Amino acid sequence: MAFSVANVRQDFPIFERTIRDGKKLVYLDSGATSQKPLSVIEAESNFYKFHNAAVHRGAHQLAEEATDAYEGARLKVAKFLGADEEQIVFTKGATESLNLIAYAMGNAEPGTRFALTSKDKIVVTEMEHHANLIPWQQLAARTGAQLSWFEVTPDGRLDLSNINAVITENTKVVALTHQSNVLGTIIPLKAIVARAHAVGAVVVLDACQSAPHMPIDVKELGVDFLVFSGHKALGSTGVGVLWSSELDDLPPFLYGGSMIETVTMTAATWAPAPRKFEAGVPNMAQAVGLGAAIDYLTAHGMSNVHDHEMALTKYLIEKLLQVPDLKIVGPTDLDSRGGTVSFTVGEIHPHDLGQYVDSQGVAVRTGHHCAWPLTRKLGVPATTRASIYLYNDESDCDALFDAILGAQKYFA
Ligand code: ALA
Repeated sequence: MAFSVANVRQDFPIFERTIRDGKKLVYLDSGATSQKPLSVIEAESNFYKFHNAAVHRGAHQLAEEATDAYEGARLKVAKFLGADEEQIVFTKGATESLNLIAYAMGNAEPGTRFALTSKDKIVVTEMEHHANLIPWQQLAARTGAQLSWFEVTPDGRLDLSNINAVITENTKVVALTHQSNVLGTIIPLKAIVARAHAVGAVVVLDACQSAPHMPIDVKELGVDFLVFSGHKALGSTGVGVLWSSELDDLPPFLYGGSMIETVTMTAATWAPAPRKFEAGVPNMAQAVGLGAAIDYLTAHGMSNVHDHEMALTKYLIEKLLQVPDLKIVGPTDLDSRGGTVSFTVGEIHPHDLGQYVDSQGVAVRTGHHCAWPLTRKLGVPATTRASIYLYNDESDCDALFDAILGAQKYFA
């Protein structure tokens, strides 16, 4: 299918509405959450209208249809990531996926593969979203393990100059973002995976900002765990993905119905993965919605989506750099970066700027973007962030540009 933004936009009902007294909706906040095509909205609502029943239980037709739809979504996610079905766990979001890994490691029997002690080390980076930092801080606090991190350079890249000192023989886990949700930086994953595996550590990749925007193959990435959220990938809210080739060795995190093999009054054994990690009646309609989102992305082709976004990122950066006093926080070249661009504009506070551009119909995010240590390190307590997706075009970048110029006049 030839990629056409005009055609894409027609699939998203939200672009039919206007905002702020009849202005065109310019949505540049897909890093926070993406808009949804009609096919996703309908897949979720059709699940409730026609197939709703608890999956993996029940001997009736609806239960069978619901289970087929839910497991069908799992297969779609698996194919999307180049993975096997049994390696895919549905969670309620990427935050839960990351907490699941950290809590499950905390539940590991002493002496087993994932058990951590005060002799072990967990490595993160300074550019982590809080969701891929705090669970590891807490695991370190519970186990006595040491937390250390890769630093960020002033131009928003990861500093790997001391890689062998950061990832040492004692490192058990290296948890890091694939693409920064603030800077757009794509990290040099290959070198990190090679070093982590050389010392026997597992690599946990937060792919929230990459999996929706570029082709992903878990085998090529070589990581051990990967998470992403459905709602940032055109899918429903309330569904996230955890992929791992290591699920068999990981103990469960949540206990309850559906995740068991046998239960007595005093003990239980676990179903094989992924069921072991999906206690309770799962978020079925949302998983089905995510399956429809993956169908949509796959039909357009992830390479096409990525090419479109990279061309638009180039345009956006060039345009922003024409604004007097605007400073991009993060890489200004296209090398290893995605379509998330943070910036400051002179002395205008990002919250004021965000409010002004919103009055012109332009939706951006402002603040520390749930990555407070990063913005603190870069000396910018807050930034304004524009993040693009397949439904944006040059006119959206132009609207942002005009709105920023307007803000400069307004706040002068
Ligand atoms: N993690 C999301 C963001 O970066 C909410 O905006």
